[in-house]
This record gives sequence, structure tokens and C-alpha cells, in this order.
Amino acid sequence: MTVMLGVPEVRAAHRAVPGGSASSGASSRPAVPGLLDTFGRTATDLRISLTDRCNLRCTYCMPAEGLPFQPPSTLMQRDEIVRLARLATEALGVRQVRFTGGEPLLRKDLVEIIRDVAALDARPEISLTTNAIGLSGRATALAEAGLDRVNVSLDTICPETFAIITRRPFLERVLKGIDALGLAGIRHTKINAVLLPGINDTHGPDLLEWALAGGHQLRFIEQMALDADHVWDRAAMITAEQIRERLSERFELTPDAAPRDGAPAELYRVKRRGASVDDPELGTVGIIASVTEAFCDDCRRTRLTAEGGVRSCLFSHTETDLLGPMRAGAGDDEIADLWRQAMWAKPAGHEMNLIGFQQPDRPMSAIGG
Ligand code: 5AD
Ligand code: SF4
Repeated sequence: MTVMLGVPEVRAAHRAVPGGSASSGASSRPAVPGLLDTFGRTATDLRISLTDRCNLRCTYCMPAEGLPFQPPSTLMQRDEIVRLARLATEALGVRQVRFTGGEPLLRKDLVEIIRDVAALDARPEISLTTNAIGLSGRATALAEAGLDRVNVSLDTICPETFAIITRRPFLERVLKGIDALGLAGIRHTKINAVLLPGINDTHGPDLLEWALAGGHQLRFIEQMALDADHVWDRAAMITAEQIRERLSERFELTPDAAPRDGAPAELYRVKRRGASVDDPELGTVGIIASVTEAFCDDCRRTRLTAEGGVRSCLFSHTETDLLGPMRAGAGDDEIADLWRQAMWAKPAGHEMNLIGFQQPDRPMSAIGG
């Protein structure tokens, strides 16, 4: 029996496609081209992890000593990545491709991969999630290759706290990388921040102040159970409600009325506390309440690990290998069908709020955020 903790349950699972169930085989899957699942969701947003390696060791992701990384021969090569991106956009209805890691800038061929994906007939919107280390020297080349948007992970602008969280003293490099994006003409950079109890949970207002001044949209992400050390604690994490409370000490937050349209962040318009009605808004802030206000029922994501495995959900316990069949000579139709089948079995939600929740073996760095 599954027992609920004192928090809202994931809100999916109410819209099962007639005749389908999560364990159904391909036979009961409707013959549609897109990446449909049994709950009626269609994935149009593809995250491709380019490597499981990283040059930081964020405590909520990697252990201090790193992880046993995949040998290079098991990682998708540039032509394999581009073939899967072509299939996804031409045959499976994917419209957005985000490159992630680990740290995607560690791929020497990142510019070439982006250039190839930007040249596809059904060109997707192309984005990158990065820690921005090494970005300052590559931002222009990435922009010229076709990179549209960038999300940078940054949890604090205090150098000492940055070094504690990431176990590396590299804040300056990150800030230089973010500045380089603007100079390269890449606009609308988003900053992703995770707040950790007792470490940076009081840094939210300062981080928001900094992001607003630079014209970046800051988004706070609730810490998820994806740490390699498996020490995530549901009771200790900083919740969306606590984030709103702490920001409200300095800012007035008004929920944005625009439809969310599948975006994970709930957006708020920001004014300084005590500002008059005539004072302008300073910008927006997002809160991604992956745990306490889960948005699984509107999830539009499909993921490829760096070794070419489809994960229908960050919290999947299974993976469908596409790289093996591809290297064994499988044709486009066969690979597309394996992908559809993997997504058809997408679970309703992540179940982080249920007793008996089992954390996936792989941490965020090995799945792709
Ligand atoms: N919980 C929440 N967010 C995480 N990220 C990495 N690990 C976790 C976690 N356990 C964030 C990174 C990055 C994005 C891909 O996910 O900070 O911005
Ligand atoms: Fe690297 Fe991102 Fe994991 Fe930090 S969260 S260690 S930047 S992969």
C-alpha cells in the first residue's frame, strides 16, 4: 500500500488514454507519430545529456570525490546525437532541444553539435543548461552556431558559499560566463538556484537583487531526491512556500497571469516591498516547486542520457537504449518506435511525496537535468 506524507499528491494519473496502461505494449498504443504516454501527455521538449562529467561537485548532485564516469566510447558521438535530434524533430514532434550534462561545456564538440542541430530541416529551439565555467571563451561561437537560450546554475553570489556548495572556488568564472552571454547577443538568460538549509537559504533576496539588476530571470528549484549521496530529506528541504515567504521580506510578489504552457516555473512579478503603485516592476522570478506543487500532469519532457538511453522521467527506474540498436544498424523507423514505446510507459509522476518512494540510482549529473 502507498501511504501519503502530509503534502499534496502528484496530480497526474487522471487522464489515462482509453485502452492504455503504463505497462501496455505497443499493440494498444495509438498509431500517432508523437511521443504520447498513457496519461495523454505528449513530449515535445527533449533534453539531451552530452556528458556525465562535471567540473563542479555540487553537494546536492555529486559526491566530493566525483563519480565513476562513463568511458568515452559509451557516450553518444556527434553524428549519433544529431541523428537522434533529427529523428526527434522530424518524426516525433519534438520542438525544443536542450543540451545538459553533467556539464555540457566539457564537450569539445559542443559548438559543432549545436551547429548541426540548428541546420536540421525541422530546426528546434536550442538551449543549454550549464554551470557557465568556461563559457566566457565560447559564448560567441555558441551564439553563432545557433544557440538560442541558456540557463545557468548559480545558487549564491557569495564566493565563500559558492565554494562550499560546489566544492570549487570558481564564482568569478561563472559571473564572467554570464556576462559573456549578453555580449554574444544571447538574451533572456535564466539562472537556476537551489536553496539548501543552513547554507544558502537566506541568500534568496540578494540573489534575486543581483539577477534583476542584470536582467536575468531567476528561478528557484526545490531540491529533489537526485543526489549521488542519497541524503535528500523531504522534511529538511526548503519549500516553495518558504522561498516565497523569504523573498517577501524584501519584495512584493504577484502571481503572473500568463498561462504556464507546460513551463515548470510558477512566475511572479516582482516589486520592491513598500513601492508605490506607480513604481515600475523590477522583473519576474520563478519558483519550480518540483516536490511540493508537482507539475507532472503537464510534463512535456523526454530525456536522452549521454549514453543514448531514453528516460521518460527524471525519476524513471528504467531506460530504453537507443544507442545500442543504432550502432547495430537499426533504421530510423525502428529507433523512432523504440522511443515512442519508451515514452508510452512514462509514469504518472515522481512520487517524491509518497512513503515508499525509491530514489533513482543515478544522480542528476548522470541523467541530465
Ligand atoms: N534538486 C534540484 N535541482 C537540482 N539540480 C541539480 N541537482 C538538483 C537537485 N537534486 C539543478 C542544477 C541545474 C538543473 C539542471 O538542476 O542546479 O540548474
Ligand atoms: Fe555539476 Fe550541475 Fe551537478 Fe553542480 S548540479 S555538480 S554543476 S552537474
